[in-house]
Parts: sequence; structure tokens; C-alpha cells
Amino acid sequence: MKRRFIPFAALTFALTFALAACGKSADDTPDTSSTAQVDPVAAAPAQALKPAAVAATDPVAHGKTLFARCASCHSIAPGKNGIGPSLHAITGKASASLAEFTYSPAMQSANLTWDDATLSAYLENPQGLVKGNRMAFAGLKNPQDRADLIAYLHTLK
Ligand code: HEC
Repeated sequence: MKRRFIPFAALTFALTFALAACGKSADDTPDTSSTAQVDPVAAAPAQALKPAAVAATDPVAHGKTLFARCASCHSIAPGKNGIGPSLHAITGKASASLAEFTYSPAMQSANLTWDDATLSAYLENPQGLVKGNRMAFAGLKNPQDRADLIAYLHTLK
């Protein structure tokens, strides 16, 4: 009985080993393909970052988008005033300098030059810089938004 059992056990062992080996090599195949899939997965975030990085480094394009909040009152065409004065070539200009626009007494006596610092302060809090002026705008609280919008205003020459 023992002698018959041992070869059978050996055969069973050999078969098990062969199956295990076979199973192992069958496992190797999906392993290889899943390793191959790592490359596109790893490459995807790097590619996805590129457009976002380009948008983040283009302040003028972002500022132009933000100008939608100003456009209901301000034209960028020279001499074309709406509820607010035209913002054509506003950077470097003296405040309340358009003869054809009727400014509030507060803006008329503000005596500012619209440089980056005064524009940023005014756009952050219009009533804080020029108390009593008529611009009904709550303010742009994000400093990056203000910087990008001002970068866009610089292009309106
Ligand atoms: C609800 C209308 C309205 C909105 C929105 C608005 N403004 Fe004005 N803005 C005015 C008015 C009105 C004045 C004139 C204020 C006065 O005379 O007291 C003015 C004045 C200004 C001035 C001074 C111009 C000058 O000739 O001295 C600047 C600069 C300006 N706005 C920029 C902006 C920007 C940039 C935005 C968008 C973030 C904006 N405004 C949004 C109505 C608006």
C-alpha cells in the first residue's frame, strides 16, 4: 500500500507543481500587461498638468476673462462711456480725466494716478480708496485676480 501511495503522491506533487508553475506563468502575462499600463497612467497626469500650467502663467488671458465683471459698465473702446467711463488706456492715466464723462464729486477730487497699486486698491475695495464714489462694485478680493485683471488693463492701449 505504501509503495503504491508514494508514486501517486509524487505524481500528485509533480502535477500540483506543474499546475502551480503553469498558474504562475499564466499570472505573469497579466502582470506584464499591467506593468505596461503603468506608463500611460503615469504619463497622463504630466500631460494633464500642461494646459493648466499654461493657463496659470497667462495673466492677460485670465484678466480678460475677469473683465466680464466690468464690461456691463465699462467699454474698452476709446471715448465710449457707459454707466462707467471707458477704460481704454486707463493705466497710467489720472483719475477722473475723461472730459466727456460725468464723475462723482468724490472721484473728481480723488487725485489719483491709475498705476498698479492704486488700481489694485480701488478694485479690491472701491469705497475704501475713493469714499463716496459711484462705482457700484463690491470688489475683487483675490490678489491674483486683481494682478491678472490689471495685466489685461495694461494691454488696452
Ligand atoms: C456697476 C457698474 C460698474 C462696474 C461693474 C464696474 N465699474 Fe468701474 N466705474 C463705474 C462708475 C460709475 C465709475 C465712475 C465712478 C465715479 O465717478 O464716482 C467707475 C470708475 C472706474 C475707474 C476710474 C476711471 C477714471 O476715469 O478715473 C476704474 C479704473 C474702474 N472703474 C475700473 C473698473 C474695473 C476694472 C471693473 C471690473 C472689475 C469695474 N470698474 C467695474 C461703474 C462700474
